[in-house]
Amino acid sequence: MKDRTAGKTPQTSAVEFVPLGKTKTVKPGATILAAANQVSVPIGQSCNGDGVCGWCRVRVLRGHDHLLPPTALERKLMADCSFGPDERAACLARVHGDIAVTTTYW
Ligand code: FES
Repeated sequence: MKDRTAGKTPQTSAVEFVPLGKTKTVKPGATILAAANQVSVPIGQSCNGDGVCGWCRVRVLRGHDHLLPPTALERKLMADCSFGPDERAACLARVHGDIAVTTTYW
């Protein structure tokens, strides 16, 4: 049987917060921070998602290719704050598939 979903953007995306045991299903295009806020998962921030502070850094455990590529703003932030290759800014990274993320303080 032909897979009718192949190559299409999913209708929903699940964001899993490890090891908290919480998952939030969001519409594609939502930020990781928006998903976290909806299930009361704490993510550090001091700039209200303006992409300045870098406190919202999360490590992507699964589904890195289910995040839209970083914008110029996020790329600058990632360089300025020395993000690792598996890290993204939760306030700027937008999901378009299932992912799992963690931080050092959960
Ligand atoms: S909350 Fe400040 S850069 Fe994301």
